[in-house]
Amino acid sequence: MRLNTVACFLFGILYVANINSQNDISGSREIIQKQVDSLLGIMTIEEKVGQMNLYSGFWDATGPAPSEGNAQLKYKHIEQGLVGGMLNVRGVRQVKAIQKIAVENTRLGIPLIFGYDVIHGLKTISPIPLAESASWDLDVIETSARIAAIEASAFGINWTFAPMVDVGRDPRWGRVMEGAGEDPYLASKIATARVRGFQGNDLSAPNTVAATAKHFAAYGFAEAGKEYNSADISQSTLYNVVFPPFRAAVKSDVKTLMNSFNELNGEPVTASKFLQRDILKEKWNFGGFVVSDWASINELISWGLAKDKKEAAMYAAKAGSDMDMEGYVYVSELAELVKNGVVSEQLIDNAVSRILKVKFELGLFENPYKYCSIENQKNTISLNSKFQDSVLEIAKKSIVLLKNETKLLPLKKEGQKIALIGALANDKNSPLGSWRLAADDNSSVSVLEGMQAYTKNILVYEKGVDLTIGKTHFVKELNINTSDRTGINEAIDLAKESDVVVMVLGEHGFQSGEARSRTNIDLPGLQQELLERVFEVNENIVLVLNNGRPLAIPWAAKHIPAIVEAWQLGSQAGNAIAKVLYGDYNPSGKLPMTFPRNVGQIPIYYNYKNTGRPSNTEDNVFWSHYSDIENTPLYPFGHGLSYTTFKYSNLRLDKNEVKIGNSITVKVDLTNTGEYDGKEVVQLYIRDLYAQNVRPVKELKGFELVSLQKGESKTIEFTLDKSELGYYDNNGVFVVEPGEFKIFIGGSSITSLETSFKLLAE
Ligand code: BGC
Repeated sequence: MRLNTVACFLFGILYVANINSQNDISGSREIIQKQVDSLLGIMTIEEKVGQMNLYSGFWDATGPAPSEGNAQLKYKHIEQGLVGGMLNVRGVRQVKAIQKIAVENTRLGIPLIFGYDVIHGLKTISPIPLAESASWDLDVIETSARIAAIEASAFGINWTFAPMVDVGRDPRWGRVMEGAGEDPYLASKIATARVRGFQGNDLSAPNTVAATAKHFAAYGFAEAGKEYNSADISQSTLYNVVFPPFRAAVKSDVKTLMNSFNELNGEPVTASKFLQRDILKEKWNFGGFVVSDWASINELISWGLAKDKKEAAMYAAKAGSDMDMEGYVYVSELAELVKNGVVSEQLIDNAVSRILKVKFELGLFENPYKYCSIENQKNTISLNSKFQDSVLEIAKKSIVLLKNETKLLPLKKEGQKIALIGALANDKNSPLGSWRLAADDNSSVSVLEGMQAYTKNILVYEKGVDLTIGKTHFVKELNINTSDRTGINEAIDLAKESDVVVMVLGEHGFQSGEARSRTNIDLPGLQQELLERVFEVNENIVLVLNNGRPLAIPWAAKHIPAIVEAWQLGSQAGNAIAKVLYGDYNPSGKLPMTFPRNVGQIPIYYNYKNTGRPSNTEDNVFWSHYSDIENTPLYPFGHGLSYTTFKYSNLRLDKNEVKIGNSITVKVDLTNTGEYDGKEVVQLYIRDLYAQNVRPVKELKGFELVSLQKGESKTIEFTLDKSELGYYDNNGVFVVEPGEFKIFIGGSSITSLETSFKLLAE
């Protein structure tokens, strides 16, 4: 058997070498397809099904361990050629050891693909994806994914389970931290930037990795924001809100998609032929493969669709879930289902061919160990200062200045006594956020450390209250402190004798992320109490928020003069925050998600649809509103201040009427009217006034990050054509209807500068 195996392995090499000599292996799709086809031709059904089997390694399990899962079984299956890939295997040594088994001990020597959740960095941690999205800076977002890819590939990984491109409108859902916020247009641009960053221009390069757009689809619409819950949404929302970022990722040649845990309109997504075959593979012509989410094929049983594993495997395979992540279902059931004629071998061939293709494109057949250089790992992953500079840059740009009423910010660089209060100010772990599996614990720069660099001020720290009690681990529920107030008096005494109080409050790093839904999105634990007690003695408070989702902070928004949204900013968090507080970087971030006044307003998002009774012109109660709170959010999508001010003027169009098929140009003048150089994200929204389907009151259709020195003016130009002016109807058909459109331009979604034009029939 061993001889046989070696012979086959050698055959594999010769076979590849032969093809190699014909052409560049990564060059032509046709050549790769031929390679895939010939390999498929010599595979047994068991070996084919093996390629569709993905096992988790033995570290960092990112989901519940199934009863079948044990190391011996997994090793045995790898040796038998019954495994196509691994996830959660950490570092070159481990990857190489496991790859060796697959390549040297199996009949065909097909290399494994190694996946990992490299969501916002491997060792060098970027801001959480939601924070990065607040930069609206596609270049830095791409750079962030690039750095992650360079480190991941040096770590033995060639496949990342990112970007998550689920649109999120519900901040109760903990995974909004992992996405790009609530808007499909912004999320699509960011999806493209992230896929480009991970995959680069050449997937066969040793420092790029295959990306995964996840979770297809509608996972972000989990009812009531409760993790893993059902999603019940209209066709209009599906096509116009959920699909666009996935579509953008597919257009950017993303190599894999992950399906999702939820059911959508009654159908568990993992068993959805509509999503995985009809839309993705047929309509969008997606050439890569679909991986299930963690054991989501088994979950077809819990959903009540399949009565056992056999049925679960059948449903998922027929629907187009190509690879089974840690479910043990395909490997145990699929070959027999094919032999019994329940699942056609053609479907299996299609799935396997997609998987092999990605392996060929990665260059794994050419060199299965190409990501396995110990030396490269050592040199690349060393908390490398160049990467640290880059993530600092990204972190600064991710910060959003929510309020600066009394111009408390920027802080003076000397001559002030500053009180720094809040457990999060001295926390080197929480700023790393959720999904940073390979990062070293406590490796971020805390706010205290970042601010200490400005030594000409007197800076004194008091925690006030602890945020959590006891040890925290990412797979466990956190124990939030709701009783220990012992540090509050010290914090109050310090605040009394200080000129300015910087309070760092918000969520623990593991309070958002997967399985971290909350019904209450205020400041957790005793932090609100601490804030109010300190405010009684000193109102000069700069509130710095650290959080993975929008928070409801109405009291703070009303009373606290300066509020800075600093999310979870990664390795360089404290430095980035200090630079913004001291004005070394003038904040330019804009919210990618609406901040509600309270949870009762959720879901609240800027691109809602008009109702039949949108306002109270008649002075009665019969209009769409709440009796106890206004309709507007606390902070709208797109909001974010600067230390300088910007004036928008002279909004103009090149024509007032345009035929469908032609484009229209929009211009606006932007002037920096304040005292600092700064950057502004100029946002363009449209409103389609009359349409067969009710259209949102505003839709983002363009944005540009513009730098202006103080006193400087620039003209900003946008072009709109039918791709921005149409929408998907309830049958999924893209329609562009003649009619009237409004255009709004400004620095947030509530801008009032507007003009209009007519769209005429072709
Ligand atoms: C998550 C995925 C993740 C996978 C593997 C699942 O629980 O939903 O996003 O990629 O685990 O870690």
